[in-house]
This record gives sequence, C-alpha cells and structure tokens, in this order.
Amino acid sequence: MHSWCIQDNWNAPEIVGGQGATFWDSEGHHYIDMSSLAECSNLGHQHPDVIAAIRQQAGQLCFITSEWGAEPRRALAEKILDVSGFEGGRVFFTLAGADANENAVKFARWASGKNNGYVLARQRSYHGASNATMNYSGDPRGIMYPELEHVVRVEPPYCYRCPFGFKSNTECRRDCVSDVRQAVENAGAKSIAAVLMESHAGTNGIVAPSDYWPSLHQICRENGIYLIADEVMAGFGRTGKWFGWQHAGNEFRPDMMTLAKGITGAHIPLGAVVVSAQVNAELQSQMLFTGLTYCGHPLSCAAGLAAVQAYENEKLIDRSEQLGRSLQASLKGLQAHHEIIGDVRGSGLFAVLELVKNRTTRESIVPWGSSSHALRGLVNQARERGVSFAVRSNLIVIAPPLVITENELAMALSVLDELLTELAPALQGLTS
Ligand SMILES: Cc1ncc(COP(=O)(O)O)c(C=O)c1O
Repeated sequence: MHSWCIQDNWNAPEIVGGQGATFWDSEGHHYIDMSSLAECSNLGHQHPDVIAAIRQQAGQLCFITSEWGAEPRRALAEKILDVSGFEGGRVFFTLAGADANENAVKFARWASGKNNGYVLARQRSYHGASNATMNYSGDPRGIMYPELEHVVRVEPPYCYRCPFGFKSNTECRRDCVSDVRQAVENAGAKSIAAVLMESHAGTNGIVAPSDYWPSLHQICRENGIYLIADEVMAGFGRTGKWFGWQHAGNEFRPDMMTLAKGITGAHIPLGAVVVSAQVNAELQSQMLFTGLTYCGHPLSCAAGLAAVQAYENEKLIDRSEQLGRSLQASLKGLQAHHEIIGDVRGSGLFAVLELVKNRTTRESIVPWGSSSHALRGLVNQARERGVSFAVRSNLIVIAPPLVITENELAMALSVLDELLTELAPALQGLTS
C-alpha cells in the first residue's frame, strides 16, 4: 500500500536512480525534483559522502542498541549540539519526525513535572502521522481527537487569510499572539507542559511573521512552559538557516527542537530531539520510559554525521539563503504574470504559492483540505515535461534540494510558468 493516497488512484512510475536534484525512472525519464521529495532530500539524491559513510559503517558494525555506546551516535550528537548552539544540551535519537515530537512532549511533561500537561499547538500545523502526532497536528487530513492527547488549540499566524479578519499588516494587532496568551490563561500555565510549533516551513503552508516566534518564546518564559520547535521540515538549511527558529536570533532558542528529514538528507531514516541544558538537568536522574528498538541506529547516525558535514563543507545553508533570494524573486515575478497566484511566501529554498480563483476576493481554487483535480493535472503534466512538483489543496510547495543548479531551477520554473498559463482556466474552475 502507499501512504497519503487513495490506493485505487495511485499510479506512478518506478524510480530507479538519482543524482543531485534529479531522479529518473525505469524508462529513462528524468525529473527535476522541486520538492526534495517530501521536503527531505535537502542534499540531493545519492550524496556520495553520505553513501560512503553508510557503506563504511555497514562494513564495521550495523547495529548496537542504545544500552551500549556507539561512536557515530556520540559524534553526531556532538555535531548537532555544536551547529545549533545548544550548549550543555543533549540529543535523543529517534526513527523519524513523528516519534521525535512524541518524545519531545514526553520530555516536556517529565521535565516540568506536569505529567499529564497540555500541549498547546496550532490549527494548520503538521507534526506527524502517528496517532498522537496526528492529534497534536491541526490538520484536516485524518480523524483527530486532540482531547485524547491533551491538546489545546490556537489559531495560526496565517497573514494571507487572517483568522481574526485583519486585511493587512498595518491593521494587524497580532491577535494570533493574544490567542496563545488567552489559551494559556484559560487552561492555566500550571497545566500546560509545552508549546509545540513549527518554527517556519510546514506542509500547511504557514509562514509566521518574524515577531511571532519571539512572542511565543516570551509567553513560554513568563509562564514556565517549555517551547518545542518542530524543525522536521524547516531544519537543515531549508529556510536559509540551519534551523528555522534562528531567524529570530539566538536569544530565542527553544527549550527543545525536533529533527528528521534533512538530518540525513533522507538517505536513511533518522529523527532526533535536542534538549537544552536546563531540560537535560531535569531529566538526568529520571527513568526515561521511552525508545524504540532502532533509536540511534549506527547506520543512520553515520549517515547523519556525513550529512551535517556535507552541509558545512559545501556551505549549503548559505547557498539556500542566497539562491533562495533569487527563487523568491522569480516567484514574485511569476505572480506578477499569473493572476492565479494569490500569495508567495517563504524564505531560503522554501516557498509556497497559494492559488486563488480571484486575487481581489482571495477565493481559494478549492477549500482547504480538499484536493484540486486540476492541480493534480498540473503535477502530471509537469512530470511529462521532466519536473516533479509537490502540491496540496491550493498550494504549490517549492522546496528543491539545496544543491539544485541555477540552470535546473530556471528550467523547472519555466515549466511552471508554461503550465500556469495553459491550465489557469481549469485551475480557476472556468473549464473542466
Ligand atoms: C513539520 C513536520 N513535523 C513532523 C513531521 C513528521 O515527520 P515523519 O514523517 O518523519 O514522521 C513532518 C513530516 O512531513 C513535518 O513536516
């Protein structure tokens, strides 16, 4: 079976190889990857250093449980603490993003002594597809029972469609921040263990204004609540910084951050929770009832270490920031020519195009949560023209590998330009 689809509708070629920002199928068709697959192949496909590290580790020792020490596990933890500036902190390795988030919530509850404490999370957020993380997520996909996981929900900082009705930045009174304050007040600070939020990029396409994260940080500090940054998608250069929260500055470092995807550039599964020195001090003498058999798998950690070194050696975080500037400018250029692009937002090599039927009314091409047949058509036609795009509801998510060449980027955007011209009437529902 295949994830996130209706099985009867699944129909895709078999992919047999890849290199850099391109992969190819069994019939020899090449595709420029404009989404890093699931926004995870940040280093491109088949990064030689990561493959060499996996080979080397496989030849030496494939597996040892966390009851024992493992050199690549220790080395990767040290490296992550170093690049993130979590001085005195520690790293707990997981298998993916979902279990990283579940563990971060466990840690927040144990470290705060609020054993059944609430998790405050937003609408239009995504934290994973396990039962618990689906309930943390404010996402229309799937049946959610947030009350089961003790989740308090707040409205998102969604400036293009402000849930509080503000029409512009000048009008805005940051009611999304007041909503967090109000939720803390309503539930009582003593009963909230953690605020869990995507720091920047996410599959729900929300990019918060720059003062949102500092405000969250302040609310958490004032109320003795742990702040968890979900960096699963934003981390490892996606938005032009190592981690999304760094856009706000080091003084706004969260108490914990969760990682996955880019940590190995998706060459092999791995996730992590990074905890601050203060959280670590609280957990140090407690029994940690957690961990899956393969947590901290040496093959994954060896790949992670090689991946982090590759980001550094190839200066890919800076590259994301710089190439990202020209990407964002090109997308604004596309917006100027295509009425259907209502909004362009993002930073680094992460951008969201929000499509609308009408720019003035901002009417969506389909309601949030349902999928557009015409936009699926765009994806299929782009594949025929050698480009792979990711879409969701009324969003096109642009997140190419950080190693994409200028030429590949320009080719992919020109295909998008063509397709938006050809398909605008169908996308806007004017033709079938
Ligand atoms: C922000 C965020 N958190 C968590 C997850 C879940 O990660 P995983 O699919 O590795 O469990 C995702 C996956 O897309 C994500 O984007």
